[in-house]
Amino acid sequence: MEVLTTTSSATAYMELEDRFNAHNYHPMPVVLERGQGVYVWDVDGKRYYDFLSAYSAVNQGHCHPRIIRALTTQAQQLTLTSRAFYNNLLGEYAEFVTSYFGYDRMLPMNTGVEGVETAIKLARKWAYQVKGVAEGQAKIIFVEGNFHGRTLGAISASTDPDSRKGFGPYMPGYIVIPYNNLPALEAALQDPDVCGFIVEPIQGEAGVFVPDDQYLPGAYELCKRHRVLFIADEVQTGIARTGKLLCCDHYGFKPDVLILGKALSGGVLPVSAVLSSDEVMLTIKPGEHGSTFGGNPLACAVATEALKVVQDEKLAENAEALGKIFRSRMEALQHKRPDLIAQVRGKGLLNAIVINDSEQSRTAWNICIEMAENGLLAKPTHGNIIRFAPPLVMTPEQLEECCHIIEQVISGWA
Ligand SMILES: Cc1ncc(COP(=O)(O)O)c(C=O)c1O
Repeated sequence: MEVLTTTSSATAYMELEDRFNAHNYHPMPVVLERGQGVYVWDVDGKRYYDFLSAYSAVNQGHCHPRIIRALTTQAQQLTLTSRAFYNNLLGEYAEFVTSYFGYDRMLPMNTGVEGVETAIKLARKWAYQVKGVAEGQAKIIFVEGNFHGRTLGAISASTDPDSRKGFGPYMPGYIVIPYNNLPALEAALQDPDVCGFIVEPIQGEAGVFVPDDQYLPGAYELCKRHRVLFIADEVQTGIARTGKLLCCDHYGFKPDVLILGKALSGGVLPVSAVLSSDEVMLTIKPGEHGSTFGGNPLACAVATEALKVVQDEKLAENAEALGKIFRSRMEALQHKRPDLIAQVRGKGLLNAIVINDSEQSRTAWNICIEMAENGLLAKPTHGNIIRFAPPLVMTPEQLEECCHIIEQVISGWA
């Protein structure tokens, strides 16, 4: 089975998008028009469990009533001033976010990749102004398999040919080392011009790769020893997704620079932020970095409410508890179908199963199509890996129903 059964109206929407939009994505053949909590509905009224959550942006569930109320109330008051003027919400929001995550200062941006670019610029400025690296010589360490977004600054660090090929020339000053490999990091840190090490605590886009337990705290210690900023890209793993507020919280250390996006707004608006110390943040002076929309009042109102929802509804605790149930069910399924499932991995409600097939095969895609037919939306990454990341407002009963759908499809797979 290659395509989901679609009506003529769904087909018309897909054809329209195909005809007039750039072909920079390969979506599943389902056309969504409504969302609430863990559910989305297509244009024919069919209901699905959303097991992607817009790549972990909709952690608080679709159209969370409190977040939508914050949005609509603020939208009638003031939406955008630019940073040419003060607005009455940014200071309050910055105070709230910095105390929520435990940092001195925040720099507000919009998309995740802008957060990454901001962190790179901060690390370079810090290198020249504080660490004493000679102008133009600063280097940043990335890891293989990373995904930090789609700007030239981010894809220059990518080892994924789809992200990178055909877009050169690339940004200089990058060192790319193997992931989950402390000796490789230690060797790269010998270079005195290195100012930052940027890493996703779990590699989401690469296929939910969870590193060994010692890796992240060990990397943090090494960075400290060599006076290098540990920069955590928690755009996908942050904000309760992995069962703690931040994925780094599992390992008991606080990154020097923290990048957040996606669920910072509950998937309502593009809102991202970089958090760090006075020492790092104050290296950037007026006019040296910014964004027209960054820190706009609408984003401030929405993000504040989105973070309060995470706390009030104990979403990290829920992700931790449901994640354990989900993985144990998937591991049992793996024992039943070792021919089909090669591995189950993840943390909290960021999980994946690896289908025992080549990256080029269509098995994972076809399994996702059949799960969609049965009311559950997930999408393969890198051909044979299916990521499972539902909204964190899911109940145990809903998770039970979802596990049942996945088990039915996999157990019955020919
Ligand atoms: C870890 C990580 N960093 C950065 C990004 C880029 O975020 P955005 O698409 O909002 O620019 C993503 C997006 O998937 C991500 O997973």
